[in-house]
Amino acid sequence: MKKIAVLLFVLFVFSSYAQEHKILSVIPQPSESKMTGGEFTVKNKSGLICYSNSGKAGNTVRFLEDYLLKYYGIPFKETPVKRKSNLNFILQECDTLAEGAYSLVITPESITVTGYSEQGLFYGMQTLIQLLPVYPVREFSIPCVEVLDEPRFAYRGMHLDVVRHIFPVAYIKKYIDYLALHKMNYFHWHLTDDQGWRMESKAHPRLNEKGAYRAATIIGMFPGTGVDSTRYGGYYTVEQMKEIVDYAAQRYITIVPEIDMPGHSMAILSAYPQFGTEPDKKVEPAITWGIFNRQNNVLAPSEELFSFLEDVFNELMDVFPGKYIHIGSDECAHKWWKASEATQQFIKEHDLKDENGLQHYFTKRVSDIVSKRGRVAVGWDEMLDSGLVDSVVVMSWRNAENAYEAVKLGHKAILTPSEFSYFNRKQRENEDSLCHRTILTSLDKVYQFEPVPDSLSAKDAELILGGQGCLWTEYFPYISSVEYGIFPRMSAIAEVYWSRKQNKNWPLFLLKLRDQYKRYGIWGANSYKYPFEDETPAK
Ligand code: ACM
Repeated sequence: MKKIAVLLFVLFVFSSYAQEHKILSVIPQPSESKMTGGEFTVKNKSGLICYSNSGKAGNTVRFLEDYLLKYYGIPFKETPVKRKSNLNFILQECDTLAEGAYSLVITPESITVTGYSEQGLFYGMQTLIQLLPVYPVREFSIPCVEVLDEPRFAYRGMHLDVVRHIFPVAYIKKYIDYLALHKMNYFHWHLTDDQGWRMESKAHPRLNEKGAYRAATIIGMFPGTGVDSTRYGGYYTVEQMKEIVDYAAQRYITIVPEIDMPGHSMAILSAYPQFGTEPDKKVEPAITWGIFNRQNNVLAPSEELFSFLEDVFNELMDVFPGKYIHIGSDECAHKWWKASEATQQFIKEHDLKDENGLQHYFTKRVSDIVSKRGRVAVGWDEMLDSGLVDSVVVMSWRNAENAYEAVKLGHKAILTPSEFSYFNRKQRENEDSLCHRTILTSLDKVYQFEPVPDSLSAKDAELILGGQGCLWTEYFPYISSVEYGIFPRMSAIAEVYWSRKQNKNWPLFLLKLRDQYKRYGIWGANSYKYPFEDETPAK
């Protein structure tokens, strides 16, 4: 009797908001789901016994096993025979559903995840994870459900700027785990910029010796009050980057690495000033942020420069096997090209109309390097201003309309309109934030964004690959501040690009967020607490 009372108490105290309110607290919202009554009970003694009908569930099984062990301490065993199992991963090829589709059926006797691809098995397991209690208990019940789910878009991602602030390999892996837990499949890794060069280059080591370190930080200072004089920097070795590529691949996440050029190139110029428009001037990696009103010089065209770019993009492609290679192309201040005699001479000799013509030429030369290796160049939407080069994918940050313009021109596009997708921006007015943010990108704004406007034809809409959230880290020097920036908006954007339009439901999302906050807690992640006024903001 006493035991039953304790059990009832535990179930009451540890039941999730979803269990109390009989909703499925799954983010992103699945395509079709229903609660079928009854519960599957996980007992600490027997735990989960897992069977898989294919040799292809290894990544899925390992992720779940690690998750259960790390956060719940639940025993997990694999068996080669189905009749001994209570958790089944069934791979069943199907080409009528989108890549990543799965079904999840939970009855009082068993849990069955059917993946319609290897990736689908992984996503079905992620939904199962969200049905676990939001507290680390060792015995519990999960509701019986039937879920059939597939993603709306093929590209669902998050970006991280590791230039303005660099984060350890272990944290990059944790960030990738966050993507996996949200069924995202692309990690856009911003590796180079004015303030530092963060990938090891064996061909051009001065990029690391000189370009990876700047002379000042904002660490320990109140944001917006200037910089100190502490040397800051670092870079990821080839070995570390390969380790991260493998880690991501085990989570069905492809890395889109970015080398930003021909603007945002101060780190390159600090190492190799000969590639700039003022080759005799000694420059340093930038110690402050921003572009146009500062001294941020850009790359000047020459055959030596294109040969250098071929080396570094080839080094990048040696490490990153994914189809998309990001070639930057944003915010290149043409004033430097206008003022440079050598550049003006290059424009004339190559029969280019003007600086826009040169920007187009730059994109073409670099996208040729990328396509020579069978990859596809992605660039920021400034590429539209100089006329799109064949086959480039446009990543639209200035607004969403530029993505729509690109698809009308027959190009693929990825959405990350800053108004709805830049998570370095503040989350509400009068926010108690140390992140020095003035522009508002609130959670509801992120959630309400509709990637495909009615005005777009079905044919053009097919060229919208999907979208991503971005975290630029000028004022995000710590892991805790990164997480404060991304959560909960990353959960909202996951739903924007995974869930069907008609399944998006803001009031329901807010209810589900109650449990999602508890999950952030389980993961040890910081987060912004709004919209729950009753909870104190984290920072
Ligand atoms: C960007 O925010 N300059 C891509």
